[in-house]
Amino acid sequence: MKLISKFSKGLHGEIKIPGDKSISHRALICASISDGISRISNLQESEDVINTLNSLKQLGISISKENGSYFVEGKGFKGLKQSENPLYFGNSGTGIRLMSGLLSIQSFSSSLTGDESLSKRPMKRIIEPLSKMGANISGSREDKLPLRITPSENINGINYEMKVASAQVKSAILFASLGSQSNTKIIEQSISRDHTERMFEYFGANISYSEKETTLKNTDKFSPQNIQIPGDFSSSAFFIVAALISKNSNITLREVGMNPSRIALLNKLVEMGGNIRVFNHSSFGKEPVADLNIKSSILNSCEVTSDDVPNLIDELPILFIASSFAEGISSFKEIDELKHKESDRLKAMQDGLNKMKIKNFLDGNVFCIEGMGKNYKLPNFLAETYYDHRIAMSFAIAGLNSNSSIEIASPESINTSFPEFINLGKTLGCNFEIS
Ligand code: S3P
Repeated sequence: MKLISKFSKGLHGEIKIPGDKSISHRALICASISDGISRISNLQESEDVINTLNSLKQLGISISKENGSYFVEGKGFKGLKQSENPLYFGNSGTGIRLMSGLLSIQSFSSSLTGDESLSKRPMKRIIEPLSKMGANISGSREDKLPLRITPSENINGINYEMKVASAQVKSAILFASLGSQSNTKIIEQSISRDHTERMFEYFGANISYSEKETTLKNTDKFSPQNIQIPGDFSSSAFFIVAALISKNSNITLREVGMNPSRIALLNKLVEMGGNIRVFNHSSFGKEPVADLNIKSSILNSCEVTSDDVPNLIDELPILFIASSFAEGISSFKEIDELKHKESDRLKAMQDGLNKMKIKNFLDGNVFCIEGMGKNYKLPNFLAETYYDHRIAMSFAIAGLNSNSSIEIASPESINTSFPEFINLGKTLGCNFEIS
């Protein structure tokens, strides 16, 4: 299967963006360990989130759907039941890493697996802190999948200085800390997304957090909640850039998550000259949301520093596309973490940018892209995506500014985070076709 993305004359209209992936995983997990029934609305119904949902069901949690909302019957921190079969997390680093923390405090053994891409991703980053806390967790050769977790007599809180800026690692530690009587303190060098902290607070945990420091003190239960999930900022990012780089565009995205630890892309695009208006500010639980209006714009180059990287890690591929149609040379410092995502995203994007005839190069630890300006039209080409959803969607958006069209390989991967992408894109005027 291929996705064909053709030149578009402009995007128009208004859409509601489906629920946030990071928050959906956390809502399901926190609801499952609360003491009672929680209701979740606007859950992201992507393959990644459904794999977490199915794993929780395999672990004895009853989850049903009524009138568009999910009802989760929580069983307390240690109330999960052993699964007969290995738990399968598909493509999802978030699902497997967060659940590893939680499974480390259960009184049964678990085996955790995933797809080919997840099987290549580094797990040492969670094995190391969880083992320090007393968990019995190991991977196969080189600390890769499958992960095996066996019961531990004693899980202790930890004082931990993060080695990589990763919300998944931070969250694995926080979930494991729910099984300990002692406190946990996590110090970060760069700020990573704080959805777990906000969700724990919402469920009544004894947690305090500032930009780079999180402390969880002993908490014996979560109270069930009503959770409304904000629209996914990372999904919105594709349409934000689409409207900025396509001529005659004016679109509105409703109820988008505006968590400050997620929206560095928005701030960068505004600095680059993007015409983006943020309005109707409100909040869903502890998470801020707003509506966005985006119009075609002439963009200047951007400078991404190492401190910016964790905040826009998932948006770097689409920011590379925006930079390709900007004026001047954009620079991105210390973006090595891109190599450890669903694919080696640096390599995947370099390949595609070369096919787009966009000059790009590595200068030490700085990646540079020479923008060709707003009027540049891409040659026809086939974009390889390495079965990576964000690579596929980035090139799909680039195709809107093509001479005629570009082809995108394995667009099925898009279902891992944004199954509605093609249809919502068409609603706005994207010329997408499946062949
Ligand atoms: C996520 C954290 C990020 C991000 C991923 C979702 C999360 O990964 O890339 O898509 O929900 O915690 P890392 O924490 O590994 O950087």
